[in-house]
Amino acid sequence: MLSKIATRERTRTTGTKFSRPPPPPLARGAPLVGVLPSLLANGPVEFIRHHYEKMGSVFTVSLLQQKVTFLVGSEASSHFYKGLDSEISQDEVSQFTIPTFGPGVAFDVDYATRHEQFRFFGDIMKPAKLRTYVDLMVAEVEGYFARWGQSGTVNMKQEFEQLVTLIASRCLLGEEVRDKMFDEVSTLLRELNDGMRLVTILFPRLPIPAHRRRDRARARLGEIFSDIVRSRRGSSGGGGGGGGARHDDMLQCLIDARYKDGRATTETEVAGMLVAALFAGQHTSSSTSTWAGARLLTNPDHLRAAVEEQARLLRRHGGDRVDHAALAAMDTLQRCVKETLRLHPPALMLLRHARRSFVVRGGSGEREYEVPEGHTVASPLLLHNALPRVYRDPGEFDPGRFGAGREEGAGGLAYTAFGGGRHACVGEAFAYMQIKVIWSHLLRNFELQLVSPFPETDWTVVMPGPKGKVMVTYNRRKLT
Ligand code: HEM
Repeated sequence: MLSKIATRERTRTTGTKFSRPPPPPLARGAPLVGVLPSLLANGPVEFIRHHYEKMGSVFTVSLLQQKVTFLVGSEASSHFYKGLDSEISQDEVSQFTIPTFGPGVAFDVDYATRHEQFRFFGDIMKPAKLRTYVDLMVAEVEGYFARWGQSGTVNMKQEFEQLVTLIASRCLLGEEVRDKMFDEVSTLLRELNDGMRLVTILFPRLPIPAHRRRDRARARLGEIFSDIVRSRRGSSGGGGGGGGARHDDMLQCLIDARYKDGRATTETEVAGMLVAALFAGQHTSSSTSTWAGARLLTNPDHLRAAVEEQARLLRRHGGDRVDHAALAAMDTLQRCVKETLRLHPPALMLLRHARRSFVVRGGSGEREYEVPEGHTVASPLLLHNALPRVYRDPGEFDPGRFGAGREEGAGGLAYTAFGGGRHACVGEAFAYMQIKVIWSHLLRNFELQLVSPFPETDWTVVMPGPKGKVMVTYNRRKLT
């Protein structure tokens, strides 16, 4: 139950007056600044889990001058995901992304403009449009793995980073980047990603080397993308559809997009939206592909089930060609990716700012608390998606939990690897599609073995991924 508190006292239907609920319990002990070094080394999850186990699903910790209230589980998090931006907003807690995304987009603009910009992504990701990307993805994946030998050893993490950037450059960036400057753009994107550290959230412009590299990379990406937009607009008489060459990629959709008042997108905005889309979609998809591999290659039963599904589909769809229909039929693989994301969500924690106080039900005694205006509010996904009352043996890799008869976490807000409610990810279908294209190809064409230890998580970055190298050996094979 959620409601905004408008008055100092509330009256229930009985007419009895109740005083306002208390604020969430405050975690005792050292202020968070004192435990930062250990947080950076061990990750924030154990710290949050510890407080959750002691205090229940709603609690507050002090971080520097800020109060951060954690909400765990779907009931406590309803307002977090569904509340209006005027009441629980992203702006105040997302300013640290401005140096990365750049001017004129995302959190550098007001809510209405940002909402329209995200709508442009939503349009690009609509099912009919998505179908047109399947062939591009398949061609890219086949071309990439054709370069592997008969057998060998590779760092799966590096391979997927490269491959996902190639897919993005084909579907999103267009042929100019792909043909002429792929290496430069990949290096710049890596520097941009690497510049978003945990410390960035608190001090986005701290003059550390990673931030300097980020700023240089962002400036150069801005130049490259703006040049392309200018040249496309020039060659098509300004409208994107005139006398010049036709382009059928996402970049062209962003160039052609119009705000509700008819205004065209500017060069700076298109460049910023490309960077934002790459940032939102690339590292998330490549690290999920790596985790999915690490999970499958250490769970022989699930690996066998995924391979058998590929063999079945090969027979049913007659031939080796993966198309949209074949991808849609890969339920086992879909569940493996979904389970991977439950255990390794690339967005560890979602944040909001309480512009108005609101009431949540939770805590250890399942009572009401009022989260005061001004608090930072956090939804820790790793915990949220691993609650034993929703997921049986939540620490286990068990893709079958999403299958018929069990359907754990179905409906509502019990599974939030892609967020939910007002700000649910617009790229979810695209992400599943590209990860399934990659793994479907690997399962059909290679026998793989993980030869390094199961990866640890790198907690030093905002979007934690697998730490270090993830080495696999491969041998070509042909499924029949
Ligand atoms: C495995 C891949 C991905 C994961 C795990 C993921 C995760 C998420 C999450 C958790 C959110 C919610 C953020 C919040 O509520 O604060 C989100 C939002 C968003 N994602 Fe993704 N994402 C992925 C891929 C993509 C891709 C490929 C795109 C393509 C452009 C994309 C674009 C966006 C956008 C634009 C939003 C903001 C939506 C809004 O605020 O209205 N994501 N994503």
